[in-house]
Amino acid sequence: MREGLEVTDAKAQTIGAMDALIAKYVDAQGGLMRALIALNDAYGYIDASALPRLATAFNITKAEVKGVISFYDDFARAPKGEHVLRLCQAEACQAVGSRELTAHACKKADVEMGETRADGRITIEPVYCLGLCANGPAAMVDGKLRARVSEADIDALLQAWEHEA
Ligand code: FES
Repeated sequence: MREGLEVTDAKAQTIGAMDALIAKYVDAQGGLMRALIALNDAYGYIDASALPRLATAFNITKAEVKGVISFYDDFARAPKGEHVLRLCQAEACQAVGSRELTAHACKKADVEMGETRADGRITIEPVYCLGLCANGPAAMVDGKLRARVSEADIDALLQAWEHEA
C-alpha cells in the first residue's frame, strides 16, 4: 500500500514538473520546439503522456505534436540505454561499409537496430548523416562524434561498456 502511494506521488511529481517545464515555453517564440528539447534533455525522451499536455499548451492537435517529434531524430520516444551508439546509415557511410558495421555491432551487443537491450545498458540506433561523410563509417558514441569506425573499434567500445562496474 505504502509503495503504491509512493509510486503515485512520484508520478504526480513528474507530471507536475513536466507541466511546469512546458509552461515556461508557452509564450516563447518557437515554444513547441523549445519545450520538446527541454523535455528530451530533462527526461532523456519524450513520454507519450506529454503529447496531450503539449497539444493543450500550444493549442494544436496531438497529431501535430507527434509529427514534429517524429520529424527530428534527436527526439527519443522511449527511454534509452545507459550508453547510446548511433551509427550513420546514409549513403556515403553505406559506401564504406556502415551496413556491415551496423550488423556487426548489433550482433556483438545483442540488440536490434533502433532498440535498447533488455538490461537497459546499450541502445543502438540509426542516424542519417553526422557531417563526417568523407570519413565514414561515422558514429556518435554517447554524444561524441567518431570517424572511420571499424569493427575493432566497436569491439573495444562494447568491451569497455560491458566491463564497467
Ligand atoms: S553519410 Fe555518414 S556522416 Fe554523412
